[in-house]
Amino acid sequence: MTQSHPRISKAVIPAAGLGTRFLPATKATPKEMLPVVDKPAIQYVVEEAVSAGLDDVLMITGRNKRPLEDHFDRNYELESALQKKGDAGRLAKVQESSDLATMHYVRQGDPKGLGHAVLCAAPHVGHEPFAVLLGDDLIDPRDPLLKRMVEVQEQHGGSVVALMEVAPEQIHLYGCAAVDPTGDSDVVKVHDLVEKPSAADAPSNYAIIGRYVLDPHIFDILRKTEPGRGGEIQLTDALQQLAADEKVGGPVHGVVFKGRRYDTGDRGDYLRAIVRLACEREDLGPDFRTWLRSYVAEEM
Ligand code: UTP
Repeated sequence: MTQSHPRISKAVIPAAGLGTRFLPATKATPKEMLPVVDKPAIQYVVEEAVSAGLDDVLMITGRNKRPLEDHFDRNYELESALQKKGDAGRLAKVQESSDLATMHYVRQGDPKGLGHAVLCAAPHVGHEPFAVLLGDDLIDPRDPLLKRMVEVQEQHGGSVVALMEVAPEQIHLYGCAAVDPTGDSDVVKVHDLVEKPSAADAPSNYAIIGRYVLDPHIFDILRKTEPGRGGEIQLTDALQQLAADEKVGGPVHGVVFKGRRYDTGDRGDYLRAIVRLACEREDLGPDFRTWLRSYVAEEM
């Protein structure tokens, strides 16, 4: 690790979006609280930050923030009821989420876009590089991504985005990166970024997915970033400026991720995440797989 780079310890998790793709489930519940098997999606995300060494977590919340805060807080009533019953297994499950990390919360107010949500983290983050993990983007715990991104940031400085190759007809759903190769097969240098381009205008098929390690100069840029696509302040627009001028905030690199990722804000992907993770669970998997096999054989 280079001495001049401070160790990254803070993770920012934007979870203030409206979750309109998942209505009516998200009318009174944040989409990040929807269960994936038996844990809310957001707990996987916080666990990922912690396993990458980031145990100071700032969540950007909006309306309906109470369930998020409560989930990562103690629940004395439930704990004492389970204690009285002598149910150590369930007690451990209840305590797991409150013992994970040091949690902080800030309200976004109006959901003016992901860039605006990240800007809300400026007073907490200060002048250090920090990670951003989107609360509805689930990276399979067996395919560590953030850890690698932190390593790349420590090696090169600047900022690091996570990239995934997608089919050309999918690229309009993502931010897209124009890249050059580096000496590492899983790392590219990013020299331009475009938010949700058409297949014809896309500079590559590298889509930006919901993990970032950012240089704090991003805050200065975000303060000046005008609302872009969809009338929202776009993080991609600010990153594009970082990538265009290395003198401000250093280079932007991309880590190419080939593992399993689920957008739990999308109903189809959410179902796939549950089926896949349930199949692989030691406790539920054997029975569930047997049922799934016969279901597929009968119904499909
Ligand atoms: P999405 O693009 O998925 O938007 O946000 P959304 O509003 O949450 O969901 P849909 O599209 O209406 O269903 C990507 C991430 O950025 C956060 C969201 O919570 C999600 O983690 N976000 C988005 C904010 O925190 N604030 C915003 O203003 C917008």
